[in-house]
Amino acid sequence: MGGKGKVDALKREVLIPEAAIRKRVREIADQISNDYKGTEPLLVGILKGSIIFMADLMRALSIPVQMDFMRAASYGSKMASSGTVRVTKDIELPIQGKPVILIEDIVDSGLTLAYIKELLEDRGAASLKICALIDKRERREQDVSLDYCGFQIKEGFLVGYGLDCNEEYRNLPEICVLKE
Ligand code: PRP
Repeated sequence: MGGKGKVDALKREVLIPEAAIRKRVREIADQISNDYKGTEPLLVGILKGSIIFMADLMRALSIPVQMDFMRAASYGSKMASSGTVRVTKDIELPIQGKPVILIEDIVDSGLTLAYIKELLEDRGAASLKICALIDKRERREQDVSLDYCGFQIKEGFLVGYGLDCNEEYRNLPEICVLKE
């Protein structure tokens, strides 16, 4: 039984329409532009889900920024509380003395961000803030506070605007909930 057929059979409902995302992204961008006025922060997107949000967010900023990416794999987080995280693609730009903003599409258990935040702080970032489009706070296993947050969502399997189910749906312009 192929995964694709199963995914195709799932129905989806729009949870956050495109216009609402666009409006919220602009609001967050205004906040960041204001908070970082006179500086040039480094935006670090956590691959792959964050790229759509990051692309829209950075184009709405009125300050200069640099961009880089990291990718992390976590093991055990869905099945056990002791999830471990491993960096599978590291940033390439220097971060020593740089204001850094981590960009995520969704924060779930918090394991990925907690790990990456500590790692980049240890490497000497001047400051480190977190910006996530979706906060699933109810599922938090590791405490991580979000400095900029688009939407708080309680439950549901979310796809679209970067979020996937078996690598599908990332290109939907809105955020949907998958229904059986
Ligand atoms: C998702 C999401 C975050 C992470 C959040 O990435 O983009 O990076 O999971 O989960 P956590 O808070 O429980 O650590 P995923 O591993 O699905 O990779 P993807 O972005 O490539 O889809």
